[in-house]
Amino acid sequence: MRKPILAGNWKMHKTVAEAVALVTDMRDALLAIPGVEKVFCPPFMAIPDVARLVQGTELGVGAQDLYWEESGAYTGEVSPGMVAEFCNYVIIGHSERREYFGETDETVNRKIKAALAHNLTPIVCVGESLELREAGRTESWVTDQVRAALDGLTAAQVAGLVIAYEPIWAIGTGRAATADEAERVCGAVVRATVASLYDQPTADAVRIQYGGSIKPSNTAELLAKPNIDGGLVGGASLQAADFIQIVQLTAKAKGLE
Ligand code: 13P
Repeated sequence: MRKPILAGNWKMHKTVAEAVALVTDMRDALLAIPGVEKVFCPPFMAIPDVARLVQGTELGVGAQDLYWEESGAYTGEVSPGMVAEFCNYVIIGHSERREYFGETDETVNRKIKAALAHNLTPIVCVGESLELREAGRTESWVTDQVRAALDGLTAAQVAGLVIAYEPIWAIGTGRAATADEAERVCGAVVRATVASLYDQPTADAVRIQYGGSIKPSNTAELLAKPNIDGGLVGGASLQAADFIQIVQLTAKAKGLE
């Protein structure tokens, strides 16, 4: 059985002091919820402090990006080794990075390989725009993104990944995909693509999150779906009470409490 995983993508929010306060507010309540992996993905500046606060607990820390080179003259970038000093996860290929920072399927693939080489678990983001959705191209677009992201990876590497399906039209809009729509893409597109590229055991092992306007009011329905193994939560992960409730509702939806 796949262990559900909820990750909070804080994006460009929270100073170090604010991050410390937020984690301090959530830590004990999150640790009391059984069977669900919980991961904080703060901005780089706050990562060391957040990592210290969760050290020795089962709470995870993730970066929101990395660069694939080991070191060198790459002003402004952060290497996989630097991330791995504090983190066990890293978000790769978020649609905001693809849209505003020039990430391509190729850079996403390079970053995934660099992360894996440092024993980081990539949370690989895929998802279609509203335009593609309206043109009926969701399936082919997401299939192509998954295929490109996984290019050259072994089945064992893929089995350990987290793939986040985040339809761009649902991010920050308050308009989440319906549970049926999300389930269809997570299962019949993302997991099915992994099965066709590798094999069924690999597809059964990979964890697939939904992301896009997850909030307490839609968590139970989304997370009740068999192919949705967790969530990548943006806005609601910045509110302690909301994120705690989302994790609690996930545990319940998966029959863990
Ligand atoms: P929201 O939950 O704010 O829609 O953001 C989703 C997201 O992009 C998480 O990576």
